[in-house]
Amino acid sequence: MSFYVTTPIYYVNAAPHLGHAYTTIAADVMARHHRQRGEAVFFLTGTDEHGEPVADAAHALGVTPQELADKNAERFKALAPQLGASNDFFIRTTDPQHMAKVQEILARVRDNGFVYEGTYEGWYCPRCADFKAENEIDEGRRCPIHHIELTREQEDSYFFRLSAFQERLEALYAEREDFVAPGTRYNEALSFIRSGLRDVPLTRHKLTWGVPVPWDTEHVFYVWFDALLNYYSALSYAPAPAGLEAEGAQLDLTQTFWPATYHLIGKDILRFHTVYWPALLMAAELELPEHVFVHGFLLMDGEKMSKSLGNVLDPFAVIERFGADALRFYLMRDVPLGQDGSVSTAAFEQRYESELANELGNLASRSIAMIERYRDGAVPSGDVDPALREDFDGLPERVSARLDGAELTAALDEIWQRVRRLNRYVEEQAPWQLAKDDARAEDLDRVLRTLAEGLRSLTVLLWPYLPASAERLLAALGAPDVSLGGAAFGAGTIERVSAIEALFPKDRSAA
Ligand code: ME8
Ligand code: MG
Repeated sequence: MSFYVTTPIYYVNAAPHLGHAYTTIAADVMARHHRQRGEAVFFLTGTDEHGEPVADAAHALGVTPQELADKNAERFKALAPQLGASNDFFIRTTDPQHMAKVQEILARVRDNGFVYEGTYEGWYCPRCADFKAENEIDEGRRCPIHHIELTREQEDSYFFRLSAFQERLEALYAEREDFVAPGTRYNEALSFIRSGLRDVPLTRHKLTWGVPVPWDTEHVFYVWFDALLNYYSALSYAPAPAGLEAEGAQLDLTQTFWPATYHLIGKDILRFHTVYWPALLMAAELELPEHVFVHGFLLMDGEKMSKSLGNVLDPFAVIERFGADALRFYLMRDVPLGQDGSVSTAAFEQRYESELANELGNLASRSIAMIERYRDGAVPSGDVDPALREDFDGLPERVSARLDGAELTAALDEIWQRVRRLNRYVEEQAPWQLAKDDARAEDLDRVLRTLAEGLRSLTVLLWPYLPASAERLLAALGAPDVSLGGAAFGAGTIERVSAIEALFPKDRSAA
């Protein structure tokens, strides 16, 4: 089994913000979960560096596009590890290997008869780097996303014959209802296709900041075609992920990982991924990805958070104060993947305090403390309490099934319900009462080992969401293995626990 998940590659026209962090975290949860399952996993993220948004931003700052790209690509590259993201590679579209691959594939698309010369005329948003049809324009000829005035562009272009794929795309959508998820996004993409596809510009003549068109070097490729191909090109030059390279000969990652399992994107770039991208792959005679999952927007004050609008919550600041795990947890728990959701500091602090600090953090520290106090840290051997079986049976399988459908919020909720169940178990059993009565020593043994094992089992399942905290907690339980095969409640054997500092200190939220 192999699993290949991607994020969009982010524009380097400005710094990373929470919206980018959201997609990267979601992809990381999926990647980690599939690694837990023992699958060969490749997780790709990176930066989109060509095109007008970057050229314009550089111009405004008085630097070259390459200088701006180098500076901001570094910031995106640094964001990934700060989020705890375990991406296997970071692609930059200015990588020469990527650029050569773009030229190779798009020359093939032309050889296959899907490119012709023409003149484009229409409305264009330089921030979207996208041409707008008449019905996509706001009053006053404004971009509905960026609220800026559109420009009227007339330009010699090579065109991509998107219209030639009308029937094949309709057939694709008919055969593969899970090609695009959630269902509302599938419907949106399909209705766009059914409304009739028009050919689209493949190259730009006015722009020089891009991948040169090999058959006419006065042109560069339209940035979207350059960008989309990152998902494919990366596999041709990225180093093999750890563990895979050990198996001997130089691995052909394209062979192992193409087609991609999941492209994770925001709804702003749906059409490019659900219409242009499969058509382009068909034109190049390449296999199509299995799934495009389209998530919603993080909103602040009811508007999409975006660099261009300036209403941005800085993920670096959040991480600095609360740690990456807290941010990951908040975003995955509060904004169901696929829907829009408002984010706020107040909601973040509320979740941190009530769920991470009180529910999980307290459960861990009091369970470990009781085992230390009553049994000198030794976990009594024997079976876990059958009273909890019903609540825990089949949990890893349920979590996996949710994650297979990219239902990251629902999977986390499955786990969290059991965190709450264990907290109730502590209250029901009142181990501090049992400890007062020597005749109940066996009951206390059972409660303590059930708590230790329940914690272990849940922490393995939580690892994709809270990797650093989960690893600390599992180390304290003396059970560092995070493989899903051992996640089932009752499957582990914990011998000793050791003291642990608060996983989610409360004073941070008061800071
Ligand atoms: O579109 N809420 O790059 P981009 C949730 N380079 N997610 C958000 C978000 C928000 N408020 N804002 C951004 C581009 N995102 C192209 C992509 S891919 C071949 C090329 C996330 O920097 C979300 O994933 O504008 C969205 O699709 C992406 O960032 C857009 O990033
Ligand atoms: Mg954008």
